Amino acid sequence: MNKTKLTPEYAWLQEQIDFSLNKMKDNQAIFKTLVPPAASKNLVYIPEESTDWTASFWIGMLLLGKELSGTSDYDEVIASQMAEFHHRLAHEIGLETHDIGFLYSLSAVADYRVNKNETSKELAVKAADLLMKRYLPSAGIIQAWGNLNDPEQQGRMIIDCLMNLPLLYFAAEVTGDDSYAKAAYRHAKQTQKYIVRENATTYHTYYFDPVTGDPIEGKTQQGFSDDSCWSRGQAWGIYGFTLSYLHSGDTSFLETAKAVADYFIKELPADKISYWDLIFNDGSGEERDSSAASIAVCGLLELARHLPLSDAKRAEYETVALEIMTSLAKDYTTKEQPESNGLLLHGVYDKKSDKGVDECMIWGDYYYVEALIRLRQSWFAYWY
Ligand code: GLY
Repeated sequence: MNKTKLTPEYAWLQEQIDFSLNKMKDNQAIFKTLVPPAASKNLVYIPEESTDWTASFWIGMLLLGKELSGTSDYDEVIASQMAEFHHRLAHEIGLETHDIGFLYSLSAVADYRVNKNETSKELAVKAADLLMKRYLPSAGIIQAWGNLNDPEQQGRMIIDCLMNLPLLYFAAEVTGDDSYAKAAYRHAKQTQKYIVRENATTYHTYYFDPVTGDPIEGKTQQGFSDDSCWSRGQAWGIYGFTLSYLHSGDTSFLETAKAVADYFIKELPADKISYWDLIFNDGSGEERDSSAASIAVCGLLELARHLPLSDAKRAEYETVALEIMTSLAKDYTTKEQPESNGLLLHGVYDKKSDKGVDECMIWGDYYYVEALIRLRQSWFAYWY
């Protein structure tokens, strides 16, 4: 597309786009069929086979790179990554997870949207069929993790799953079969009712009795405690409830997205990059999670788009999104660490398990590039 000329105040945006595209070009040499892992080690992603829930963030970035650059520089690796995603689904490798949604939205759906590739559309529908097997009608939820017969995991849903629902809506749209959309809607309603607390904070996970479907209790997995508010979960909530509104037309999701966003914004520290749990703030000595920040930027920008001009929150969300983004661009990228193959410093995967603490997170990098494209050009999101 023809891009508008940037005014001097946005010079940083083009710098960040160039920085990200250059890093991605370099990374293509080592991530052809292999992918970056969830988190870097000493700021370097070590290539691995595509078996984890995070494998699609790399191809998602490449597709964004294609759209941002308007070149075919990324096509070869996009094609080899797509071949891996076909193989992975055919053999159900590492797919006992609701993250089939992340995996196939950023590969199959995105490839279909960008490259109009019909086989990718078919792949996305097959992936949605596998995701549907995780739907538990008694509770109206999609089981997050593990084998469907694992008593530890049965009946457990998590807030992150809101980002997996767009794959079901995509399948409903292209097949005309409403059952995918009905399951996605019911899951989102249960998330709204049980994961969001009265004060608009969120549990990370929630258990239901798998037989009766009765709600049991909220628990954390990656947050500080069962009653704290995990930053990334809250960021998934801002973006995820907004997408649920967009796909279903249920305006109560828009209200929930706003409430969750307001709490996230209220707890931001001085430089606008949240700590890994919102219970922490400046002076705590805890780590930030820059990946929660980049997810929140995309969520706030998407949310703002759906509010009327007469709603003051619209301008507020855009302003805060830009503040977070300029803070990330100024102080959180690897520009001073040429040895790093990541983009964003200071992410946290799982602090309590000492997994990926103060490292680059591959989804943090993906959402950073998504935020860049959102700020630079008209863009049709891979989530709708
Ligand atoms: N969806 C997993 C995570 O955010 O860590």
